[in-house]
Amino acid sequence: MESLTGYKEKPCAASDVVFRMFCSQHKGYTVYASERILEPDDPTFAEMLRGRKVLLVTTPTVARLYGSLVNDLAERQSLSVKTLILPCRENMKSLELVGDICSAALACELDRKGLLVALGGGVCSDLVTLAASLIRRGINYIRVPTTLIGQVDAGVGIKGAINFGGKKSFLGAFYPPEAVLIDPTFLQTLPVAHLRYGMAEIIKIALICDAELFSLVADHSARLLRSGFQDPFACSRRVLTLAAARMLEELQANPYEDQSYKRLVDLGHTFSPAIEAASSYAFHHGEAVAIDLAMSATISAELGLLAEAERETIIAALIAAGLPIFTELVSEQLCLKALRDIALHRAGSMNLVIPVGIGRAIFLEHEDELPLAVLRRSLKRLAQESREMENAESAFCAYG
Ligand SMILES: NC(=O)c1ccc[n+]([C@@H]2O[C@H](COP(=O)([O-])OP(=O)(O)OC[C@H]3O[C@@H](n4cnc5c(N)ncnc54)[C@H](O)[C@@H]3O)[C@@H](O)[C@H]2O)c1
Ligand SMILES: [Zn+2]
Repeated sequence: MESLTGYKEKPCAASDVVFRMFCSQHKGYTVYASERILEPDDPTFAEMLRGRKVLLVTTPTVARLYGSLVNDLAERQSLSVKTLILPCRENMKSLELVGDICSAALACELDRKGLLVALGGGVCSDLVTLAASLIRRGINYIRVPTTLIGQVDAGVGIKGAINFGGKKSFLGAFYPPEAVLIDPTFLQTLPVAHLRYGMAEIIKIALICDAELFSLVADHSARLLRSGFQDPFACSRRVLTLAAARMLEELQANPYEDQSYKRLVDLGHTFSPAIEAASSYAFHHGEAVAIDLAMSATISAELGLLAEAERETIIAALIAAGLPIFTELVSEQLCLKALRDIALHRAGSMNLVIPVGIGRAIFLEHEDELPLAVLRRSLKRLAQESREMENAESAFCAYG
């Protein structure tokens, strides 16, 4: 068939090849662990910023706690740093805030060698990742995660996403940072609830690949939570580095998620997006992940794939970390919808990750591997256990 321009349309097989373009970007980055990087004389962070225009994005709380240290460091080391303070909350994780970062980058004339810095939690680093991927079609950025979730998960990988149209993480990008700096001393000021949320992600990664990490967290969660993750010191540092390294090891084979839609790190992340959205984000990501972990372990035990004793150990670890194991929001309908939604994200397969031991997990690929009766029994069991826990707690309080 002749087109209007006279150009001959041919079937693909018979087309002439003009050029074959290869577009893969081989870009790596390093995740460093370092203590007190904002000390005015510490060169670690300063060397990364030196000689560049820097736009540092942070949250009101982090600015209040650490803003003066950032200013002192910039002054003492003669760095060119502008700061943008954004209300980085889950319900604000929108295109609008990404736009605010882009506007600030424009206003401070960030050039192509300019640098964005995300100093904050996962919401902050998600927004910065997306903005960095857009500004001048992509500029460099550094993540300095200041929450536990940030230091072991959100801040170390290559993704960033925002919520859109009522869907969690619907818009986003795979866009690697230039570097990540993990400074555990930031965790001293993190509210204990946020330490708990991070524990959920650590338990997740431990469950899929590291029994030692699981034991460290399960055995020491109370002290770690009480001390702002500083005590026991050696345990705290080992947990942080193991968790971040295991996460990256898991991501390494498939960082752009284009090799496979089967990812063990999706344990705890099948039902949780629906739980977060159904609660209008009143449930934090970490709490939703904990509930999803309890469900996945229970489903696995109900299928006879996880020993009952190991299921108890997992539930006990979640409870010891002060995490929820159930919410009434988790109805059968919500679960089925979550499974359908997630299949859209995983090329048509359910790929539900379930633990089959401490440090071992497998996939339930298709819906027929999860009979409705098993889902119903699992929900009923968790609802009952959570009611029993609440009753025991109120009896304890009444007695006390
Ligand atoms: N991109 C990814 O790969 C990825 C992975 C996991 C989670 N996430 C996302 O991360 C988000 C959760 O991140 P989060 O748990 O870090 O929470 P968050 O970003 O909501 O931050 C929590 C709060 O803690 C405050 N804060 C941060 N650091 C502090 C400190 N050192 N001391 C005191 N207060 C501090 C912040 O101001 C904020 O109000 C979710 O939106 C989730 O979807 C993304
Ligand atoms: Zn997560």
